[in-house]
Amino acid sequence: MTDAVRVAAHAKINLFLRILAREHGGSGFHQLETAFALLELADELVVRRTATPGDVALTVNGPDLGRAEENLAVRAAQAVLAATGRKFGVAIELTKRIPVQAGLGGGSSDAAAALHAVNALAGGAVPREELLHFAARLGSDVPFFTSGAAAALGWGRGERLFRLAPLPTAPALVAFPSTGVATPDAYRWWDELHAAPPSPARGPVVLDAVALASWGSVGRLGGNDFEIPVFGKRAELRALFERLAGTRPLWVRLCGSGSAVAAVYKNPRDRDDAATQLGEKQQRLIKTETRAAHGAGPEPLIGG
Ligand code: C5P
Repeated sequence: MTDAVRVAAHAKINLFLRILAREHGGSGFHQLETAFALLELADELVVRRTATPGDVALTVNGPDLGRAEENLAVRAAQAVLAATGRKFGVAIELTKRIPVQAGLGGGSSDAAAALHAVNALAGGAVPREELLHFAARLGSDVPFFTSGAAAALGWGRGERLFRLAPLPTAPALVAFPSTGVATPDAYRWWDELHAAPPSPARGPVVLDAVALASWGSVGRLGGNDFEIPVFGKRAELRALFERLAGTRPLWVRLCGSGSAVAAVYKNPRDRDDAATQLGEKQQRLIKTETRAAHGAGPEPLIGG
């Protein structure tokens, strides 16, 4: 039986994101349509079996993530341990590389990785469908990461997914400021601008599969509905977006609800030139690539 696994938790970008409506019933949630795509940029989780039944210990290499019991990866691990009868415990070692509160889905991806890792330690006892239910309860972006898809259309709160053929791997640059954006704030800022939602919220649209097949055509699709409210509240993020847009990328957008902005380039030289031109005085930069392969899933850690 495997006693330790290692799993990569990739970041995501939203190729476009439309907020369609506020949900009825005061849930505070919104209905949206979006397309997700993975980046190579990833956190890493090493998850080891421990002898204390039901116990989840967390060590973080990187920034302070706050209270362990509120950490999504910890809650994900607890859900799988509970579903499998709390026969063992786990120790999670999380190496953070994805900026936090950046809209790159880092916390959600860690949670999805923890679901799969703990389930692997439990011999795969939890069926895939149930893992997806746990994922949706943990957060709106967690089902995409749990699905293993490299790219998907998402709707509802983001938990309804249609797997897309991945876009070709392309060089990408992630630019982010020193302060993040909390997702509930970004939705609140959108609400402030849409006190009386137009009806129907948006006009009809026909999405063509070919428009999601190349970076040039995705670039023309345009649109992350968080850009107007978030740039309205955080002028330095609009400036960051404009600096990145000035480097002639194929595609550039705010990541999710921010605060990172990501751009995709024709070739590594264009991406590297853009990084040199921007520098790291006004923003921090991460060079990465978009990911065409699906999530690799947990691998046994030999000698772990
Ligand atoms: O699902 P997640 O934990 O990421 O959501 C964080 C917050 O973002 C929610 O509490 C809600 O305020 C807001 N949200 C929303 N509509 C969504 C997803 C999130 O309003 N579809």
